[in-house]
Amino acid sequence: MSSSWGNSIRISIFGGSHTQAIGVNIEGLPAGERIEWEEILEQMARRAPGRDKTATTRKESDQPQVLCGLLDGVTTGAPLCAIIENTNQRSKDYSQLKVLPRPGHADYTAEVKYGGYQDVRGGGHFSGRLTAPLVFAGAAARQILRRRGIVIGAHVLKVAGAKTEDRPFHSTEISPELLKRLSGEYFPVIDPAARESMRESIEEARLSRDSVGGVVECAILGMPVGAGDPIFDGAENRIASIIFGIPAVKGIEFGAGFAVADSRGSENNDPMYIYEDGSVRTRTNNAGGILGGITNGMPLIFRAAFKPTPSISKEQETVDLRTREAAKLVITGRHDPCVVPRAAPAVEAAAGIAALDLLVQSRML
Ligand SMILES: Cc1cc2nc3c(=O)[nH]c(=O)nc-3n(C[C@H](O)[C@H](O)[C@H](O)COP(=O)(O)O)c2cc1C
Repeated sequence: MSSSWGNSIRISIFGGSHTQAIGVNIEGLPAGERIEWEEILEQMARRAPGRDKTATTRKESDQPQVLCGLLDGVTTGAPLCAIIENTNQRSKDYSQLKVLPRPGHADYTAEVKYGGYQDVRGGGHFSGRLTAPLVFAGAAARQILRRRGIVIGAHVLKVAGAKTEDRPFHSTEISPELLKRLSGEYFPVIDPAARESMRESIEEARLSRDSVGGVVECAILGMPVGAGDPIFDGAENRIASIIFGIPAVKGIEFGAGFAVADSRGSENNDPMYIYEDGSVRTRTNNAGGILGGITNGMPLIFRAAFKPTPSISKEQETVDLRTREAAKLVITGRHDPCVVPRAAPAVEAAAGIAALDLLVQSRML
C-alpha cells in the first residue's frame, strides 16, 4: 500500500481513523520558509468534524504536533513531519464490516485485497479523517505560495437536491480577496443564500437517514505561465491525481470541463489579447488556465464531484461474505450526511500541494 504523492514536493500520509494518531511527512519543502501556526490551525478547524449538523458529531480538536522539519517556525529543508492525535474514537465491534461490507464504501475491496488484515475501525486508512494531514500539508504549502502571489480558494458550488446552487467563479476575473474570504469560511460559498438552501438539503437527507453529494469548485490565482509538462506530468494530471486522493471524489473537470464536448472550436477557443501590463491574456477561460498540460497564466479553475456519503442509516442490501448469502445492513455510528462542506478545505489543500509541486518541478520557485 502506498499513500505517498508528489514529484518534487512529496507527501506521505499515515494512520487510520482509530489509530493513536494520523499524520503526514512532507519532503522537498524549500528551507527558510516561515510557517504561521495560526493559519495552520485555522485550516485544520475548517475541516475538523463536529462543527454543525451538516457534519458527523465526532469531536476532534485536530491540533497538529510537529515532530521535525521546523525550527522556530521556519522550514529547515529537512522532511517536515506532523501528527494529529485521534482522541474521540468510539470503541465498538467493527468486525461486522468484514462480513457485511457497506455498499459504496471500501469494506469489500479492502477485505479481498488485504485478506482481512486491514484496519476497519472507523473506515481505517480509507477514512475521510485522513484529509486532516492533507489539510496540514496544504496549509503549509499555501503559505509558501502566497509569498509568491499565488492564492487559492474553493467554494461549495452545489449540493444535491438544494433549490439554489452557488454562483460559479467568473472564468477570468476572480479577486484574491474573494479567495481569501472563502478560504477562511466553514461551508464556503460566494452567495450566502445558496448556503442556506444547501444546508436545508443536507438536513433533509440526514433526517431521512440518507446522504447527499455535491461539487466543490476551486481556483488558483497567480500561477505563472509555464508550470507543468505535456503528456503525463501536466498540471491537469497532477491536480487530478492528488484530488482523487480525497475520499469520495468521483470526477474532476477543468475550465469548461465536460461542456467542451458540446461546443465548437470558435466558441471554445479562448481569444487572446495583450493586457495593459504587456502580458498575454485570454478573454474567456474555457481552458481553465491550462493548455498542453502547462499553465497559461489565467486563473486555474477546476471542479471536483463528490458522491453522497456511503454510510447511511437506511436499511441496505449487502452480502454476507462468510455464507455468500444475501443480507440486510443497517449502519449505526457517526457519519457526515454530506462530506462536501468539510471537503472544501481539503480540495484547497490538495490544490496548494499540487501547485507547489508543479512550480518546484518546473524550477519556477
Ligand atoms: C471530509 C470527508 C468526510 C467523510 N466522512 C465519511 C463518513 O462519515 N462516512 C462515510 O461512510 N464516508 C465518509 N467519507 C467518504 C469515504 O471515506 C469514502 O467514500 C470511502 O473511503 C470510499 O472511497 P471512495 O468513495 O473514494 O471510493 C468522507 C470523505 C471525506 C472527504
